[in-house]
Amino acid sequence: MSRKIKKILLKKNKKKIVCLTAYSKNIAKILDKYCDMILVGDSMANVLYGMTNTHNLTLDNIIQHSISVSKGIKKSALIVDMPKGTYSNLLKAKKNAQLIIKKTKCSAVKIESNNKNFKIISGLVKNNIQVMGHIGFTPQFKKKFKIEGTNKKEENKLIKEALLIEKAGAFSIVLECIPPSTAKIISNKLKIPTIGIGASVYCDGQILVTDDMLGLSGFYPKFVKKYVNLNSIIEKAVKKYSKEVKTKVFPNKQNFLYGK
Ligand code: KIV
Repeated sequence: MSRKIKKILLKKNKKKIVCLTAYSKNIAKILDKYCDMILVGDSMANVLYGMTNTHNLTLDNIIQHSISVSKGIKKSALIVDMPKGTYSNLLKAKKNAQLIIKKTKCSAVKIESNNKNFKIISGLVKNNIQVMGHIGFTPQFKKKFKIEGTNKKEENKLIKEALLIEKAGAFSIVLECIPPSTAKIISNKLKIPTIGIGASVYCDGQILVTDDMLGLSGFYPKFVKKYVNLNSIIEKAVKKYSKEVKTKVFPNKQNFLYGK
């Protein structure tokens, strides 16, 4: 287990764990100063590639963006999402996770739970591959967005699933869009840190999709806090540039590289 992952485990019940997603070096470089973990999430399918879901993102897509992100990271742990279909059996999961780690030097991979792949997690961990689990709303296995765990039966199912993921050896687990009370129970029961998205302050840490919290993606459900409206800031800059090019204000003499 890497030093970066050990540091995260030590924060359980002591300090909140700060996580965000990144898909490129320049953004990762900024996040690195403030985050414990940076996730190259398969949310890039929707956010970057304009796909309607995450199902068709390829291993190559995620590896290329992770290589870029890794160039911007010094101190935080780099976690890479395994795309749908790349961990459908242990052999495949091991081969693909090893390729991701070799190419990106990430600290761990994340795999979504469909309440079945506990053996895949334990197989990876036995092969020295650190795994982050992901339960609740898991876009790779769900057709429609739904808050999970809203009745006792569903809550118990989530608790059991989280405990089995911990037993399989995952070092941490994302809880996506589940009720605060369920997140509280799971966070109290588990020894590994829980990272929430739409899962309340009771989690050991938080993650958001960076493009959402920066006001770039246009996707702002209630659990997303928009910290800035980058859309309008970028638009103002581009509008000014366009006007200056048309009116020959830019480039001016100060921008000339040579001569007059
Ligand atoms: O793909 C992603 O960005 C994620 C986070 C939302 C946890 O899985």
